[in-house]
Amino acid sequence: MNPYETLLKEAGGRPFAAIVGWPVEHSRSPALHGFWLKQNNVDGYYGRLPVEPNREALRDLVAFLRKTPNARGCNLTLPHKIDIMPLLDRIHPAAARIGAVNTVIKQPDGSLEGRNSDGFGFLAALQEGAPGWRAAAGPVVVLGAGGAARAVVSTLMDAGVPELRLINRTQSSAVDLGVAFTPTDGRRIAIERWEDRSAMLEGATLLVNTTSLGMTGKPALDIDLARLPHGAVVDDIVYIPLETPLLAAARARGHRCIDGLGMLLHQGRMGFEAWFGKKVAVSAEQRKVVLAA
Ligand code: ATR
Repeated sequence: MNPYETLLKEAGGRPFAAIVGWPVEHSRSPALHGFWLKQNNVDGYYGRLPVEPNREALRDLVAFLRKTPNARGCNLTLPHKIDIMPLLDRIHPAAARIGAVNTVIKQPDGSLEGRNSDGFGFLAALQEGAPGWRAAAGPVVVLGAGGAARAVVSTLMDAGVPELRLINRTQSSAVDLGVAFTPTDGRRIAIERWEDRSAMLEGATLLVNTTSLGMTGKPALDIDLARLPHGAVVDDIVYIPLETPLLAAARARGHRCIDGLGMLLHQGRMGFEAWFGKKVAVSAEQRKVVLAA
């Protein structure tokens, strides 16, 4: 059986969606959507679909989604988030700005829309973990300038942050991001040097790590939090491990901390609600189930 036949067999005639990537075995998306399906008694299925990283394979995926009546859409992970874009019928404006699609939704007329739920998930997790935090209250610091940083920077600027200090090891990537997301209303994205990251925490209301530093198997993020104001929030989008060395250090100093699992769970809401027509919420129980997966 090829992966499409396997997925159809598993779905057993129910409406379904899947995580599409190469590889997909390690993905936690089936656990997070499976939790909501069960919790809400939804007669649906969420599976895994390995799709090779080439144009032909992506075309096959799109054709499959179009022609299969019960296919509601999919999530996309590495390495497909950008290459899928020209194959879809419509790209939501927020996804177009970020330059990547992680959620595909089949519309009632059968057309395929690409969205990006990473920014939504990031902001929802931040609001949940630090309810009093206000975007307009002061400068924020974002470390990293990769794919995840694009969603985070775009979302924070849209939320009304007055000044965003963007810091990346490779400064040219930060400059590109700054050019793409600087609004026309006078608010600014300041590109700072990687060596100055500790000093740049002065006066910040929020520190976000979007680099892979601190992830299992990677070195810890080396940063001195001494200048970060006590009321500031520290958000690490890494979720393996859940408590990165950065979050452990921030917690020890009494900062409110946001881990990366909240972003993963909240970003899933966008797809689930569109595919299965049911509003869902993130819960402690779901966190446990997804962590155990
Ligand atoms: P993602 O799509 O998850 O954001 P990515 O595009 O590979 O992943 O981005 C990884 C980020 O982590 C980048 O900002 C990268 O910095 P560079 O642009 O300089 O590569 C950052 N990163 C990875 N390893 C790093 C390290 N050892 N030191 C500093 N930054 C690092």
